[in-house]
Amino acid sequence: MRKKVTVVGSGNVGATTALRLAHAELCDVVMTDIVEGIPQGKALDMLQAGPITGSDSRITGTNDYKETANSDVVVVTAGFPRQPGMSRDDLLMKNYEVIKATTEKIIEYSPNTILVMVTNPLDAMCQAALRVSKFPKHRVIGMAGVLDSARFRTFIAEALNVSVENVQGFVLGGHGDEMVPVVSYSSVAGIPLTDLMDAATLEAIVKRTRGGGGEIVKYLKTGSAFYAPSAAVFEMVEAILKDKKKILPCAAYLEGEYGINGLYVGVPCKLGEKGIEKIYEVKLTPNETELLKKSAEAVRELINVIKC
Ligand code: NAI
Ligand code: 2OP
Repeated sequence: MRKKVTVVGSGNVGATTALRLAHAELCDVVMTDIVEGIPQGKALDMLQAGPITGSDSRITGTNDYKETANSDVVVVTAGFPRQPGMSRDDLLMKNYEVIKATTEKIIEYSPNTILVMVTNPLDAMCQAALRVSKFPKHRVIGMAGVLDSARFRTFIAEALNVSVENVQGFVLGGHGDEMVPVVSYSSVAGIPLTDLMDAATLEAIVKRTRGGGGEIVKYLKTGSAFYAPSAAVFEMVEAILKDKKKILPCAAYLEGEYGINGLYVGVPCKLGEKGIEKIYEVKLTPNETELLKKSAEAVRELINVIKC
């Protein structure tokens, strides 16, 4: 039986995600948006690429949540992107209202789905979706760590002039300026990163990773990144639909792990058909532990504002 994925929000991230999912023939895709015509038009355009790319995935666009019924996974990208000069946190109240409204609709028609949240500020929006949906925590997952880690790995590969495939590394914490690129677990073909790079280069890469989203916003001026973000969502959805048991950094609801309680924060998770099947508590250096706490505090401040 074909898997079904709904993508809520048919803007840059949503549409690119839908395209990646459908062209890989991973599932049938339903695109939705609050704007009439956009999901329908984009879905039809994507569908007509099928004979060329060789995909029989069905892609439909709608403004009616009825058509999203019984989705295996729902990817939520609805909301507003960052504009130049705007922090992720500025988006908070605006996108909180969007998440409340869309989550209610999604769960009405897909009560057993797995939510993959993308809308910013990511960690706070995950928490909002968890509260509104009343889903168990393993079925509400946030995408940020895969993207931030990909940026970290890209910059390392570039600096060392090696294949991106050789670079292992992950970024933990909230999806904000306080995110934590974890140097102690970063390596290139198994060689510790600290053996290959001087401290100043490494520090510059960590800094650039933290500002990775903002760097792209500055160039684009009217929106934010979507190619790498949609690739990150694809990796997560694929891990879930294929029950791959893949370990990826995801925003997960922590209840004591890493000393953090009642909060979404990015940590290494095993993704499979049930959603988050395990959270890994890796041993961090004292400095990384401190930075992770600081990052979690930044998420907590947002949660205190939206009170959820
Ligand atoms: P976009 O503006 O291109 O698309 C957003 C879409 O959501 C628009 O088509 C809009 O009409 C729709 N929308 C707004 N309110 C809605 C509602 N109530 N119901 C259904 N659809 C609604 O923005 P883009 O670039 O696709 O980004 C989407 C979100 O994802 C933003 O919040 C952005 O900050 C976030 N983002 C998060 C990343 C992460 O790592 N977690 C990475 C990239 C983007
Ligand atoms: C990014 O990191 C905007 O959060 C988005 O590109």
